[in-house]
Amino acid sequence: MDLGLKDKVAIVTASSKGLGKACAVGLVREGAKVVICARNEDELEKTKDEIKRNLNGEILSIRADVTKYEDVKNLVKSTVDNFGTVHILVTNAGGPPAGYFENFSDDDWNKAFNLNFMSTVRLIREVLPYMKSQKWGRIINITSVTVRQPIDNLILSNSIRMSVVGLAKTLALQLARYNILINNVAPGYTLTDRVRFVIEQQAKNTGKTFEQVKEELAKDIPLGRLADPEELANVVVFLASEKASYITGVTIPVDGGWIKGVF
Ligand SMILES: NC(=O)c1ccc[n+]([C@@H]2O[C@H](COP(=O)([O-])OP(=O)(O)OC[C@H]3O[C@@H](n4cnc5c(N)ncnc54)[C@H](OP(=O)(O)O)[C@@H]3O)[C@@H](O)[C@H]2O)c1
Repeated sequence: MDLGLKDKVAIVTASSKGLGKACAVGLVREGAKVVICARNEDELEKTKDEIKRNLNGEILSIRADVTKYEDVKNLVKSTVDNFGTVHILVTNAGGPPAGYFENFSDDDWNKAFNLNFMSTVRLIREVLPYMKSQKWGRIINITSVTVRQPIDNLILSNSIRMSVVGLAKTLALQLARYNILINNVAPGYTLTDRVRFVIEQQAKNTGKTFEQVKEELAKDIPLGRLADPEELANVVVFLASEKASYITGVTIPVDGGWIKGVF
């Protein structure tokens, strides 16, 4: 199936590693011109070089912290300066810290809001003029299964990511007349550096092996394993494509069946 992504211009944020990187790779593979960003410049350059070497595609790296509005503005401006416009935006950021209600101050809540909500608001604000004028746009927000089924010790993620779903649904209704489609993906447990680190910590704390902890996590997943980042990226790439032309305002879990609710 030709996804119609050749020469489309895409920004994927928080993409030197993990889910963001997998999305960038997937889009480059389909012929899109892709801009990646992260805070650590060395890691970012390594990722850009690796993708260029393996896929020989058009990829640009711009150091940016998505919590800083100036960086977000510069990211979008540099993309337009280099590639002329933006067709696709994949919003992603680091995750807020784990913990319970009692663990967090106002400052922690504000930081999580800035990281996972305001970054999305500002990125969308900056790309919209280009998408509106060309009457074509795809926005895909990477959220989490926590928007459909809370995880006990992730109160910041459970709460703040819901506002991204509300934002996306509202904008989907208002932007449809410009042919701008906006959707969310909700990854379940996916084997990225972040999750590897969590598993390693748990293994250290409990005296279990990495494999034992991983298997315990997988017990709650009907498919019986954690996801590969590429499995999330495949859905994002499809939503970014011409072929996803009648899907907007939805949240698609990519969780191996982990969410137990019907809707
Ligand atoms: N993996 C999972 O199972 C899973 C499940 C549900 C939801 N999620 C969510 O998906 C997101 C990505 O997770 P991941 O597992 O791919 O994490 P990861 O492997 O740790 O990768 C995170 C990437 O984001 C970049 N980043 C972090 N904070 C940033 C910021 N403020 N500005 C720009 N770039 C930033 C990191 O680079 P720098 O550190 O250099 O900036 C890195 O490239 C997180 O929000 C996570 O909570 C993950």
